[in-house]
Amino acid sequence: LRRVDRWIANLAVLRRTSDPLVVDLGYGASGVTSFELERRLRRVQPDVFVLGLEIEPDRVAVAKRQLESVRGRETTFAADAHVEFTRGGFEVPIPDARLATIIRAFNVLRQYDESEVASAWQLMLTRLQPDGVLVEGTCDEIGRVSTWIDLTRDGPQSLTVSLRLAGLEMPSIAAERLPKALIHHNVPGEKVHAFFDELDRQWRNAAALANYGPTQRWIAAVEGLREAGWPILTGRTRWRLGEVTVSWDSVAPHRFQA
Ligand SMILES: C[S@@+](CC[C@H](N)C(=O)[O-])C[C@H]1O[C@@H](n2cnc3c(N)ncnc32)[C@H](O)[C@@H]1O
Repeated sequence: LRRVDRWIANLAVLRRTSDPLVVDLGYGASGVTSFELERRLRRVQPDVFVLGLEIEPDRVAVAKRQLESVRGRETTFAADAHVEFTRGGFEVPIPDARLATIIRAFNVLRQYDESEVASAWQLMLTRLQPDGVLVEGTCDEIGRVSTWIDLTRDGPQSLTVSLRLAGLEMPSIAAERLPKALIHHNVPGEKVHAFFDELDRQWRNAAALANYGPTQRWIAAVEGLREAGWPILTGRTRWRLGEVTVSWDSVAPHRFQA
């Protein structure tokens, strides 16, 4: 989850908040992804605290044992890692009535039906601090292809596509890894389909720049997207990472109530 963690580490709210609490919702079979998240965020926010939530009690038990190993210095993670694990779902239970600065829900909603997305989002959003961000997305098993939606209490704000550029054939490979809210809408007539069409076209147009490396080619493709009128929300520092972020409105499905 390195790509999305790098994104989260850069969210301004993480530095601004007086209570940097990050929830890793649905951390999975092992708590390692939560420990990695904490390690990456602590570099930019030393006071960060990561709360791993899982709906599966067995997975909570596993992660709690892993935490004991971390505390006992049996791992490469800091013994004082600011991490805890507990059972919970989209209602995001946090002790002491605290609210989350950021909720990372990765590869969780893909197990659900599209009709369940809006209510899950809604529940999670109520658990955010006023400037908090829900980062909901997916990635492939080896982390080469990842996409996510940033949501604030006002609803969805942006879609980010993040790709390993070395060996990339076509950026639309990311369409197979879209968040549940978008994945079934990658069909002609939908905005997200037009987005990938144009991104592929720009990537092809920039093929000559491949001699200077895939990063230069990607930057040219994103520039091309912007010139074609797509509302790109980030700058070159992010493009260099193989990312592109567009406004939610530019890709939102025609029929989706959120
Ligand atoms: C595919 S794993 C993802 C693990 C990790 N986040 C990652 O991206 O590698 C999905 C996890 O979400 C958990 N899950 C499913 N629904 C959930 C819910 N409503 N609340 C919390 N966890 C949930 C599942 O138990 C499973 O462990």
